[in-house]
Amino acid sequence: MYTYETANRSMASDRVIELLRKAYSDEIETVMNYQTNAIVLDGVRAEEIKESLQTDIQEELGHAEMLGQRLKQLDAQPPGSAEFVARQDSLQPPEDSTNVSAVIRGVLEAEDDAIDTYRELVDAAREANDPVTEDLAVTILTDEEAHRTEFRGFEKEYQTT
Ligand SMILES: [Fe+2]
Ligand SMILES: [Fe+2]
Repeated sequence: MYTYETANRSMASDRVIELLRKAYSDEIETVMNYQTNAIVLDGVRAEEIKESLQTDIQEELGHAEMLGQRLKQLDAQPPGSAEFVARQDSLQPPEDSTNVSAVIRGVLEAEDDAIDTYRELVDAAREANDPVTEDLAVTILTDEEAHRTEFRGFEKEYQTT
């Protein structure tokens, strides 16, 4: 029987799919920009940031994998490059390759953005009565908050030196 509640539930599931696909694209874009910046940055002071970016790249790639597998379980697909729209203006490699602060600011913006998306996904999954996606979103959210904390620490260090 098709009820008002069923209609609501399926609208909520559509929103879950949409957010999973958006999060997947964002993770892939983050991998690209973290990788580029980890290569581009120069100088002794950049070493720690580059190392941290390299570690995060693996984690962000792992997030994309988990999101893609969840999409498949929900009979959907992660997007390919033809659907891709670049959004991370602030994470473009800096003209001055020693400008570590610019990269730190870009990373913080990307992590804030990811945190917003996963919080939205937690809410949408709960509304759609999809505890598996909700749990996945909470797990990834935990990682993104840890990334943000780490880069907030770098930000403090670079403000005072
Ligand atoms: Fe991520
Ligand atoms: Fe992250």
